[in-house]
Amino acid sequence: MGAVSIEQVWKRFGPHVAVSDLNLSITDGEFLVLLGPSGCGKTTSLRMLAGLERPSTGVIKIDDLVVNDVPAGKRDIAMVFQSYALYPHMTVRRNLTFGPRIRRENKAATERALNEVVNVLGLEALLERRPSQLSGGQRQRVALGRALLRRPKLFLMDEPLSNLDAALRGQVRAELVRLHRQFPITTVYVTHDQVEAMTMADKIAIMFHGRLQQTGTAQQVFDDPDNLVVATFVGSPPMNTMPGTLSADGNGLSVACLGTTIPLPGWMGLRKPAPLPQPISVGIRPTDIEVAAGPSEGLISGRVDVVEPMGAETFLTIDCGPQSLMCRAPGRVRMRAGENVSLTLDTNHLYAFDSKTGDALIDRSRWSDGDVQRAHRLEVTHHA
Ligand SMILES: Nc1ncnc2c1ncn2[C@@H]1O[C@H](COP(=O)(O)OP(=O)(O)O)[C@@H](O)[C@H]1O
Ligand SMILES: [Mg+2]
Repeated sequence: MGAVSIEQVWKRFGPHVAVSDLNLSITDGEFLVLLGPSGCGKTTSLRMLAGLERPSTGVIKIDDLVVNDVPAGKRDIAMVFQSYALYPHMTVRRNLTFGPRIRRENKAATERALNEVVNVLGLEALLERRPSQLSGGQRQRVALGRALLRRPKLFLMDEPLSNLDAALRGQVRAELVRLHRQFPITTVYVTHDQVEAMTMADKIAIMFHGRLQQTGTAQQVFDDPDNLVVATFVGSPPMNTMPGTLSADGNGLSVACLGTTIPLPGWMGLRKPAPLPQPISVGIRPTDIEVAAGPSEGLISGRVDVVEPMGAETFLTIDCGPQSLMCRAPGRVRMRAGENVSLTLDTNHLYAFDSKTGDALIDRSRWSDGDVQRAHRLEVTHHA
C-alpha cells in the first residue's frame, strides 16, 4: 500500500511562503505528476513528503498514518532527485546492489532484479565503471536504477530526466511508464516539463506560486482548465489569449473579440452565476484555429506575420489588428509572410476567463468525449 494524503500543508522559509495550503490525495498505485514552473514549490512539496523538510503547518499521511514526525529513513520511500548521490568508490554494480546487500536480500532475486533494471536503463556496458567515469546522464540512470531496485511503498522523483539528452529522455520516459504498469508503486514525479506530465501521469497536479491550481488527467487539464494559469501553461505552443466580452441573450452565450461577435452553442452554461456582460480573457488554442488563404466575407481577417515550418505541421503567427494569434496549419501549407488570410475559430474550444481572477467561466462539463480526445491527441502529437 502507498496512499498519500496531504492536508492543509504550508511551508514557510522565514517570511517566504514556498507552499500555501496544499491539499492533495494520491491513491495507492497512482502515478501523480506535480507540474509547474521553476520556483513554484514542487521540490519543497516532495521533500516534505519524503521527510526531508517539515511542514510549517498541516498534516501528511501515508496509508492513513500521520508521518509528520516519521524520519525519512522510516517512510519506506525511494527517491531520485535532480542531484544524485552515488558512492564514488563503488562500481555501478555495487552502487545498484548496495541497498539489497545491506538489507541481506536474497542474492538470486537481487541478481534477477538487477538484470531487469540494467536492461531497461541500458546500463550493461557501465556495470564495472565508477561514477567518475560516467557522464551526467549515465549517473542519473544509475541513480534511477538504484531506486527501481527497491520496491518501496512510494517513489519520489524530482526532475529525474532533466540531465538526459532528448532521445534518451523519451526512451526512459516510456520505460518508466512501462515499469509503473508492471509494478504499480505509488509515484510522485516532479517536473516543469508538460510533455513529461502529459505522457506519464495518471493524474497531474499543477502548481503555481506555491499554490495547487488544478488536479486532473492530462485530458482534463488540457481541455477544461480551471483558470488562465493552467490554460496557458499546459499546451505548446500555448493557448492564445486576448481581451473580449462575454454576454448572454436568449440564444445563449456569446463572446465578442477580434472585432466580431462569436455565438457559443446554447448548452454551454456558466460554471457559476456571474453578471453578464463582463470583460474577459478569451482563450483559443493554436490547434483550434483554421487558416484559409485570402480574405473571406464574415470571417476574421488577418495577415501572416511569421511562418514556422515544423515538417508535419506549420505554425503561423497571424496579425489580426492589435492582436496576434498563433495558429497551427498542416505541414504542407503554402503560406508566406505578408499574405492575407481568414480565420475560423472552433467555437467548441473557445475559452472565457474572468479578466480579474483568471477563473474559467464556461461550464464545459457536457462536452462530448470525441471532441475532447481529438483536441488532446493533436496537442500530444506535436510533442512526440
Ligand atoms: N531552504 C530554503 N530556504 C529558503 N527558501 C527556499 C528553500 N527551499 C526553497 N525555497 C524557496 O521556495 C520556493 C519554492 O522552491 P522549490 O520548491 O525548490 O521550487 P521548484 O522545485 O518548483 O522549482 C522558491 O522560491 C525557493 O527559492
Ligand atoms: Mg525543484
